[in-house]
Amino acid sequence: MSKAGTLDLASGVGGKIQKDDVLSAVDKYEKYHVCYGGDQEDRKTNYTDMVNKYYDLVTSFYEYGWGESFHFAPRWKGESLQESIKRHEHFLALQLGLKPGQKVLDVGCGIGGPLREIARFSMTSITGLNNNEYQISRGKVLNRIAGLDKTCDFVKADFMKMPIPDNSYDAVYAIEATCHAPDAVGCYKEIYRVLKPGQCFAAYEWCMTDAYDPDNKEHQKIKAEIELGNGLPDIRLTSQCLEAVKKAGFEVVWEKDLAVNSPVPWYLPIDASYFSLSSFRLTALGRFCTRNLVAALEKVGVAPKGSQRVQAFLEKAAEGLVDGGRKEIFTSMYFFLARKPLTEAE
Ligand SMILES: C[S@@+](CC[C@H](N)C(=O)[O-])C[C@H]1O[C@@H](n2cnc3c(N)ncnc32)[C@H](O)[C@@H]1O
Repeated sequence: MSKAGTLDLASGVGGKIQKDDVLSAVDKYEKYHVCYGGDQEDRKTNYTDMVNKYYDLVTSFYEYGWGESFHFAPRWKGESLQESIKRHEHFLALQLGLKPGQKVLDVGCGIGGPLREIARFSMTSITGLNNNEYQISRGKVLNRIAGLDKTCDFVKADFMKMPIPDNSYDAVYAIEATCHAPDAVGCYKEIYRVLKPGQCFAAYEWCMTDAYDPDNKEHQKIKAEIELGNGLPDIRLTSQCLEAVKKAGFEVVWEKDLAVNSPVPWYLPIDASYFSLSSFRLTALGRFCTRNLVAALEKVGVAPKGSQRVQAFLEKAAEGLVDGGRKEIFTSMYFFLARKPLTEAE
């Protein structure tokens, strides 16, 4: 079961960071970002520290609001958020053509929600690779509870340098994770290396779209808010992402921004104008309640000092994501299916 209670949320803030150090970690994290005077090169150079601080600080908030899968999904009318999230995961499995018994790698696996769903759906063995120790510890507990600890496991490693032999996996996927890479080509090259020849890699990427104007101040602000609220060094354009996949050696089978035809906008669950009982905690009213709870728990010492600041930058993220989604300058679901050729010359 995911850690869904308010006390779990409060006591989990900071992940593996010592509780007394949470406030200074929030300080350091914020300073990496443009909204607090930080710059992109610094975020790229120190991506491990920046991204790990981010996930130590926010994972219990994510678990409280989202459950076990930390990603958006395109959505049909009449579909619940949780149904759409699972369908989005099944879609990846279908695109990869997963077959029972195959060995699969989940790059940037969070606490393993998608891994468990896809492993059960496709009867595959999935390894979750993640550089955040706290998330892996949560993932191991949840795999054990789900009865998947014999067939699925985790590796604590950086996806820019994976401790995995060449040609190891029958399929690789990444869900809203490789956008944290300081260099997309380097990251995709690592994925290419560990994938068996002739096999496929599929991803959902966070990207700025062609409608993004780098000289537009409002667009710049939205991009900076999304980077701050989501631990990102820089958000690439969909075209840059596609170019990077090709540069890494992959042949692109097909690609599409799945946000474009989604009947229900992907950002609706966090849009201030939207209300839903089934995803109440993600709504503006739900977040208002969480904010007050966290403030009270921080005051009495149950939540570490700095918890309210984490909630505040997550609020910024929500604003940036909704504005970016509404203006169609940002997508959380640029999909591509890419194949590693059988031979280098193929
Ligand atoms: C938005 S979360 C998505 C998690 C998961 N894919 C899901 O959908 O639930 C991004 C994940 O990427 C992981 N990550 C970020 N940078 C990483 C890196 N350099 N190496 C390995 N994992 C990384 C984070 O720790 C986090 O688990």
